[in-house]
Amino acid sequence: MSAEKDDAPAHATKAVKSLTADEAAAEMQRLVEEVAAHDIAYHQEDAPTVSDRDYDRLRRRLRTLEERFPDLAREDSPSKKVGAAPSSRFAKHRHAVPMLSLDNAFTDDEVAEFDKRVRRFLGLEDETVDYVAEPKIDGLSASLRYEKGRFVLGVTRGDGREGETITANLATIADIPQELEGAPRVLEVRGEVYMAKADFAALNARQAEKQGQIFANPRNAAAGSLRQLDPAVTKERPLRFFAYSWGEVSDDIDDTQLGIIEQFERWGFVINPQTKLCSSVAEMIEHYRAIETARAELPYDIDGVVYKVNRIDWQKRLGFVSRAPRWATAHKFPAEQATTKLNAIEIQVGRTGALTPVAKLEPVTVGGVVVSNATLHNEDEIARKDVRVGDTVVIQRAGDVIPQVVEVVLDKRPTGAEKFQYPTQCPACDSDAVRETDEKGREDVVRRCTGGLICPAQAIERLKHFVSRTALDIDGLGAKQVEAFYTDGLIKEPADIFTLTRHRDALLKKEGYGETSLRNLFAGIDARRDADLDRFIFALGIRHVGETTAGLFARTFLTFAAFREAAEKAAAGERSAIDEFLSIDGIGMTATEAVADFFREQHNRDALDRLLQHVTTSEAEAPSSDSPVAGQTVVFTGKLERMTRDEAKARATALGAKVAGSVSAKTDILVAGPGAGSKLKKAEELKVRTMTEEEWLTLIGG
Ligand code: IVH
Repeated sequence: MSAEKDDAPAHATKAVKSLTADEAAAEMQRLVEEVAAHDIAYHQEDAPTVSDRDYDRLRRRLRTLEERFPDLAREDSPSKKVGAAPSSRFAKHRHAVPMLSLDNAFTDDEVAEFDKRVRRFLGLEDETVDYVAEPKIDGLSASLRYEKGRFVLGVTRGDGREGETITANLATIADIPQELEGAPRVLEVRGEVYMAKADFAALNARQAEKQGQIFANPRNAAAGSLRQLDPAVTKERPLRFFAYSWGEVSDDIDDTQLGIIEQFERWGFVINPQTKLCSSVAEMIEHYRAIETARAELPYDIDGVVYKVNRIDWQKRLGFVSRAPRWATAHKFPAEQATTKLNAIEIQVGRTGALTPVAKLEPVTVGGVVVSNATLHNEDEIARKDVRVGDTVVIQRAGDVIPQVVEVVLDKRPTGAEKFQYPTQCPACDSDAVRETDEKGREDVVRRCTGGLICPAQAIERLKHFVSRTALDIDGLGAKQVEAFYTDGLIKEPADIFTLTRHRDALLKKEGYGETSLRNLFAGIDARRDADLDRFIFALGIRHVGETTAGLFARTFLTFAAFREAAEKAAAGERSAIDEFLSIDGIGMTATEAVADFFREQHNRDALDRLLQHVTTSEAEAPSSDSPVAGQTVVFTGKLERMTRDEAKARATALGAKVAGSVSAKTDILVAGPGAGSKLKKAEELKVRTMTEEEWLTLIGG
């Protein structure tokens, strides 16, 4: 969004050179205040409200003004702060090895499931699998890079791929050694920066005394302290660090997780004293219970226990799926609960027409976070719990999951509270909202608006999805703008976004839009006229086609034209096209049918044609690997003896191959183990290259 506020005065939108001195002074004051507000949101609340680009624009405009009117420059200008970097945001750094997150387990059964998955993947049965169990610290992870034993770079986790460089701030933490004796040439130690509970309380007391910022919880205090532009401020803050993981390492350190972190300890890092090696699920759960009991007495906040496969060779074989390792999981403590008043039940309409009930709550703090919305799931859940507006309700929040309404406190029900009537009409377009029944006569839990194209809520949600961060990611066009532009009739469908320039004059009349912000908006749109294929397919908002599925389609079909051709054939009921979709490993009937349904609709094809007049899609990235199997379609059949099917597939995919579930003319290689049957026969008929597991392993070099 343009950084100008909605009620921006005239001087906010004028070019610097056309400002009078009075206007310039007013504009400088506005910019100084706005930059200061953004600095607080970014550095102290850890919740930036503008993009880095918009922020830099504000600072640049201020500097240009100060150059033109040096006499008017303000004392409180951020440009005057000593030592302030050119932009007061931190430089971005791409992690050499991504910083992963963790999958969650909430019950003992889920922990047992995790252990089973590990064994299944590795093909282990009775062999002992050791796990390292340790508390999950509620702080912020950081990566510390040492070269020739010297601390040279410290980076936040960021989105896992790219973080922010905060070397000087991390260097102020006493638990982080500046030098390591006898470390590998390159070593990235990773772990958690946190603030102890007592230090947090003392910090808040000091802050209160000097009327400074009060932090909601130790985690926020740690985040706010770490992201200070002035390392001297960080130094004053009592931050600590536990080492538990690593990124790039030039030489092997040890062959176990425990061995490596014990080496970290010898190098001077602090490792968690509650770390324990467990050789069974029972021992893991026992340690979890012990930590849970000790939780309140521990000097720092934790939100669960992390289990990690101890053997490094197994960790390597297990690898990771999307963002989390297969070899670790976080066993979370039960959700925290709170009681509050339910002020209203709002029915939201999603992009596929699904009606979802959202509880609007009297804001309440649950586990250190203020909650004012919670999910009520669906119609049946509201009825089952008999939730009524005005009720006092128990809500809970577990980790990063959306808070939910657990139950009603019946004693506190106000007299006259009425049973909630779930709408049978769409609140946005008044069309009937129905619950579909499947072929077996089962009723869907979701009630859906049947308005389709005439429903404004669905249209807006589809547009929001189209521009969202994981879809086309259009800078300057967020949910708020989409809603406003839709209401004004400026955009009705994705294609309209790319012809927004036609509405220049109308846009200039809108509050908050000046020449500069418009230029930025148009630049953001132009930047997406050539879109990544996977993002583009995902952006279309086809039901059951999420990021992962869209990625599979992109890697399989490589061009949008090829994807569309197959999809339209599938829509026309052509068996071979349907099979082509089904043969993609990870694609089933649901996604295939959804794609066919989408392309069967004439209006979807028309809207797509209009969109493609403005957008080209770049060919999906060719596999970056130089392996001889990169880009090849591989099918595994029969029994594999050296590794499990899952591991074989994971390795093939990692080398850039496409794994398919069935043999077709498009198959390049069939790897057949003992007991191979119909697939082998079909491959022979189609003259597909066939090999044994041994031959396959030789081919891929391992
Ligand atoms: S291991 C590849 N161990 O939890 C494994 N993470 O939900 C990477 N965290 O981003 C993580 N305590 O910030 C690990 N003992 C611990 C942890 C821990 C806290 C955090 C970490 C990570 C997040 C994932």
